[in-house]
Amino acid sequence: MLRDYLVDYFLTLVARPEQDQIKITIVDGFCGGGLYLNEDGKEVVGSPVVILEAIKEAKVRVMGATNRRKDIHFDVQLLCVDANKSALQHLRQVLTDRGYADQLARSEIELVEGEFANHAPALVQRARKRSPKSGRALFILDQYGYDQVPLQTLQAIFSTMKRPEVILTFYVDSLINYLSPDNWKAFERKTGVVGAITAADLDKATRGPGWRRKIQSALYEQITTKSGASFFTPFFVRPQKGHGDYWLLHLSHHWKARDVMAQTHWTHHNHFVQYAGPGLDMFSTGYATKIDDDGRPQAAFEFDDLASQSSKTALLEQIPRAIAACPDGVPFRKFIVDQINWTPATESMIEEAILDVVHDQQIEVIGDNGSVRHVRTAIQDDHVLRFRRQFSLGLLSKMTAVE
Ligand SMILES: C[S@@+](CC[C@H](N)C(=O)[O-])C[C@H]1O[C@@H](n2cnc3c(N)ncnc32)[C@H](O)[C@@H]1O
Repeated sequence: MLRDYLVDYFLTLVARPEQDQIKITIVDGFCGGGLYLNEDGKEVVGSPVVILEAIKEAKVRVMGATNRRKDIHFDVQLLCVDANKSALQHLRQVLTDRGYADQLARSEIELVEGEFANHAPALVQRARKRSPKSGRALFILDQYGYDQVPLQTLQAIFSTMKRPEVILTFYVDSLINYLSPDNWKAFERKTGVVGAITAADLDKATRGPGWRRKIQSALYEQITTKSGASFFTPFFVRPQKGHGDYWLLHLSHHWKARDVMAQTHWTHHNHFVQYAGPGLDMFSTGYATKIDDDGRPQAAFEFDDLASQSSKTALLEQIPRAIAACPDGVPFRKFIVDQINWTPATESMIEEAILDVVHDQQIEVIGDNGSVRHVRTAIQDDHVLRFRRQFSLGLLSKMTAVE
């Protein structure tokens, strides 16, 4: 998933054929030793190698694009941090064996020993200085747990840079299993995630039904909104074995980055679950990893054909309602940006559904001269979407009946 996301990320950055360079810093904050043996005894590469291979693949794909004439220089600095000295020693050997010795010698790849949170302020400044104009940097924060990336670190990233992205793992099931009325304050002090949990939520005698879901939704809201990121996706990964589900949070300042990540989830539907509704308001059904009473996993939305179909059905029903709520209409781009944090759908899925409701004459598209446009394939950013008045009464009464 990380590899595909990174390839798509680079391809999106160099979409213009005249572009001849991309400059970016990638921080792998919990990089590990670079190579593992899986249960079948097969070698599996760790995130630093995945990142470097994704850069190679993206270069080949960019140069293979038919409209590209210029060579492109990927000026990427990879900063790998790990608290474990022997993991870094192992990583250095793995990278050397795989042909990256020169990049290590030129400091295009740097290995940094220590805790990520301690190094983070300096790393953020380095990334900012390398790309002061574009403000681009990617932080891959694969912590093994839930308390190694304080909220203040995320805030520093999103307040210092223009276009940072963070991919953060958060072992939400382990955290909730571990929390107790005695230790939750220590979690708050360490992470800065304050106020999401109360002692009453955790006390077996007082906690109500749905306590797990309540904690998760409050934690999620705190981490995403207080990180300072403008866009986020809360997808869940349910490993076949292990300590339960974890969040794979993607945080960014740009809707397009969020859209590329959502597309990656649709591509990798066999690994991802997202416990939420399929349409625009994906949180309306809640998103706890386990239903409390019997501990059964909540029904999942699996980014497969079935999910795609139910998303389409939900979007067709919800889009007219959302646009009807704006009496003067809403520009297409604003509509997408307003909705995108709250839907598993991608921009193209939403656009396709809008075109369907335009075709059904529930919505009309207004051009910049104020006249109705007969759009069939692509809606422009500044096209205004407006609910058709003659549709209002019938549709709204139908909606009321359903509600
Ligand atoms: C889940 S593993 C990372 C795996 C790696 N991303 C990969 O794909 O191979 C977590 C790593 O974080 C390191 N670690 C644990 N706490 C840390 C901290 N506070 N700061 C930096 N590294 C830490 C561990 O030594 C371990 O190598």
